[in-house]
Amino acid sequence: EDPSIFDTMLLNQQQNHIPQQFVWPDHEKPSKDVQPLQVPLIDLAGFLSGDSFLVSEATRLVSEASKKHGFFLVTNHGVDETLLSRAYLLMDSFFKAPAFEKQKAKRTWGESYGYASSFVGRFSSKLPWKETLSFKFSPEEKCHSQTVKDFVSKRMGDGYEDFGNVYQEYAEAMNILSLKIMELLGMSLGLQRRHFREFFEDNDSILRLNYYPKCNQPELALGTGPHCDPTSLTILHQDQVGGLQVFVDNKWQSISPNPQAFVVNIGDTFMALTNGQYKSCLHRAVVNSERERKSFAFFLSPNGDKMVKPPEELVGGIFSGEREYPDFTWSMFLEFTQKHYRADMNTLEEFS
Ligand code: SIN
Ligand code: FE2
Repeated sequence: EDPSIFDTMLLNQQQNHIPQQFVWPDHEKPSKDVQPLQVPLIDLAGFLSGDSFLVSEATRLVSEASKKHGFFLVTNHGVDETLLSRAYLLMDSFFKAPAFEKQKAKRTWGESYGYASSFVGRFSSKLPWKETLSFKFSPEEKCHSQTVKDFVSKRMGDGYEDFGNVYQEYAEAMNILSLKIMELLGMSLGLQRRHFREFFEDNDSILRLNYYPKCNQPELALGTGPHCDPTSLTILHQDQVGGLQVFVDNKWQSISPNPQAFVVNIGDTFMALTNGQYKSCLHRAVVNSERERKSFAFFLSPNGDKMVKPPEELVGGIFSGEREYPDFTWSMFLEFTQKHYRADMNTLEEFS
């Protein structure tokens, strides 16, 4: 059977040097002395309680952070703790399986879901030190809804029933959470609470499991290269290892792990929806030689056919009618970014 990039990565754990395709150019190598970025902790239950002080506190903090860098944390989010720990535990059953087993779920040309042992993002030149498994997700109420369970049973087969159920449940919890955050974002912009919630109710989203193996030369490699999320909103949970960094005030700053919180960040599509008021910010993930790292990312995107266009309130008035971005649909944007992925997939094919 074919040797995968994963085998190369595993092999590295007995070797001293990582392969050249993982060595990032000097200006992109992980920086030393990275300090934590100050990101606000938003009490979501407080916001949802309707208490006027807690609501105004939450909307003020979200607005401030989103205008500066688009990163904030949410606590009291209502996501079941045991679901989270089951989701972490089950990652091993897939990523520690033999390569041929994982290849059954292989991500293919132009697709944004499935298993990838390494793939290059829109702006990266080198391979990231990671493996991912991505699922399409859309809410059950929608016709042609996409479920995690279906993908798992079709592509991964017997022995993965529990796996399929847990990530299905996790994606549903993220869908609910993301719509609550959309209410918060809407209100923080002075819009009606339901404005963005309704826009995203029939979303076409992706759930991605990120697995970063240990790396013997972490000072040369990156787990995820610098990028902005093309999607609307990302809800991330990272384990206690740490590695997420954001480029703010001209330097890389870390987002410290907090098991009680989800990291939320604004993506390009939401930036366009707010007419550029809320920022989608460059970020990356570093690896280390001591411990493997795990994270889950839920990428919320609008229904593929919906026009992405900021509401009148964010264009007229003090915004003097200026539009920062043209109208587009998520499918158009995805097709555009995948053209770039496709070129990069050639690189991937050489190694996997
Ligand atoms: C990403 O932004 O794609 C990954 C972030 C992480 O794993 O912390
Ligand atoms: Fe990202």
